[in-house]
Amino acid sequence: MPPILASKSRNTLFELVFVAELQPRALKVLHEWVKSESLRRHCYAVGDCMRHFAQKNGENADLWEAVGLLHDMDYERYPGQEQNGQQGHPFVAAQWLRDNGWSDEICRAVLSHANYSNVPRQTSIEKTLYAADELSGFVTAVVLVRPSRSISEVDVKAVKKKMKDKAFARAVNRQDIIDGAAQLGVPLEELITEVITALRADAERLGLTGQLVNLSSSSQ
Ligand SMILES: [Fe+2]
Repeated sequence: MPPILASKSRNTLFELVFVAELQPRALKVLHEWVKSESLRRHCYAVGDCMRHFAQKNGENADLWEAVGLLHDMDYERYPGQEQNGQQGHPFVAAQWLRDNGWSDEICRAVLSHANYSNVPRQTSIEKTLYAADELSGFVTAVVLVRPSRSISEVDVKAVKKKMKDKAFARAVNRQDIIDGAAQLGVPLEELITEVITALRADAERLGLTGQLVNLSSSSQ
């Protein structure tokens, strides 16, 4: 089934209005489903990366950010459901989105970010989501382990160094990061640079501005 919003040239005025509302609607859904601030921040971060890559490639930034915001919406309620066939994350999210009128393009992207869903990543939005998911989490971990806790002090070299440190952030699969870049057709260093840029632009909401900045802002 062709995605409803796959071609900008085919969009009707109604669809364009609908798309413009996607980001705030996705944010509302995320907040309804996810109460954990850390998981919300992860979804914000992936959404930021998606928006960044969409703008860079002339795609619909609201649509792409919505996919990033929604991709783990069911993870808090259904964590670690990989062993439960199609009953957990992200199948619950995709089904709920489908039942509530979200497009097939969005539902398919959400499913495809999990390797065990057996939904192959075919489109740019699907490949970008997969590439941004693990890497944005890893970059965040690199920032938070530093004394400054500021993303302004983290660069490609620091991220690559931590990728070689097997004791660091063991839950993050390095091969997924490498595969994500390869499937997207972007050199790993370039992908890391873009993700850092995207996260820096939203550092305050992501809690990555550093202790000094947070202290001064909290005293206002
Ligand atoms: Fe995720």
